Amino acid sequence: MSLKILGTGRGLPEQIIENKRFTEFLDTSDEWIVARTGIHERRICRTESATDLAVAAAEKAMNAAGVAPAELDMILCSTIGGDYVTPSLACCVAERIGATCPSVDLNAGCVGFLYSLNTAAAFFDSGRAERILIIGLERMSAWMDWSRRSICVLFGDGAGACVVGKGDALKYLHLGVEGDPAPLNRPLSIGNNPFTDRQPVEEVLHMDGRKVFKFATRVLEAEIARTFEQTGLTAEDIDWFLVHQANGRIIDHVQHKLGQPEEKFPKNVCRYGNTSSASIPILMDELVENGDMKPGQTLFLGAFGAGLTYGSAVLKWT
Ligand code: ACO
Repeated sequence: MSLKILGTGRGLPEQIIENKRFTEFLDTSDEWIVARTGIHERRICRTESATDLAVAAAEKAMNAAGVAPAELDMILCSTIGGDYVTPSLACCVAERIGATCPSVDLNAGCVGFLYSLNTAAAFFDSGRAERILIIGLERMSAWMDWSRRSICVLFGDGAGACVVGKGDALKYLHLGVEGDPAPLNRPLSIGNNPFTDRQPVEEVLHMDGRKVFKFATRVLEAEIARTFEQTGLTAEDIDWFLVHQANGRIIDHVQHKLGQPEEKFPKNVCRYGNTSSASIPILMDELVENGDMKPGQTLFLGAFGAGLTYGSAVLKWT
């Protein structure tokens, strides 16, 4: 699989919302949120648009990669929704950065970043691209019912990006779906169509937290076992486990199962909440910026999300 990461970036809203802010309008507490999720605060857009965050992440990644907009062969945005249902977020980003390459969105829930890597690798393998900009952007605050304490405290807004080019750093990638929209979904309006018998729906995110928790821990464990079986790697060979930042307890669970040190499972869910498909590229950019990831190190990426989707990948850091 011919792919390597050339540069990373992230874009986050300025506004920080600490847990205690929810106690002003919900029956909740900082203690409950921290104990159940590990989240202390999240970023919520006040003035920024989805495109603003995506462009900030993209520009940082392109600067780091030394790649100009005219050199991009494709922009792939993983998102459950940008600023418009149409045009796509990718087209809005292209317009803002001055790119004219094919640009398209991809929705695979929180696993969108891994699905984008897979798509990019296929374009490289087929010889149809040399450099692709991948952005994971989620403005989760737009989809919330802010009166539901069981869900609105969990998510945050943000974007992560990377420029990928031809290379051999991607060692393994596996994606899957257990098609079931029930545990996690956001219905779309039927509009004011006078010719339908369908009933209006609540256009907010719905989640059966317990079901998703069980699914997440089960598929992450299975994906890790499958990765080791297919690649011959062991837990000791992995320097960094970059796991979707949905809930600190899910990450801790996997870490304990593997018996690996906590430091190998970096977490920023405490600062950003669950930013869905943006969570892995944001985390990656922070590790790069801090100089934590060293050339030659091996990364495991693992994610789960609405669909229900799941996936894993192994990357050599170059
Ligand atoms: N504050 C206080 N109490 C709350 C809150 C809150 N914010 N939210 C729920 N509660 C209450 C519930 O009402 C319930 O009360 P009851 O027992 O009186 O009915 C009690 O807390 C326990 O609720 P549960 O939902 O059973 O709590 P649980 O321990 O399962 O934790 C949580 C809930 C955090 C949502 C957990 O199930 C979870 O993390 N699930 C996975 C979520 C996830 O990862 N989603 C995203 C994956 S895909 C993606 O990223 C898009």
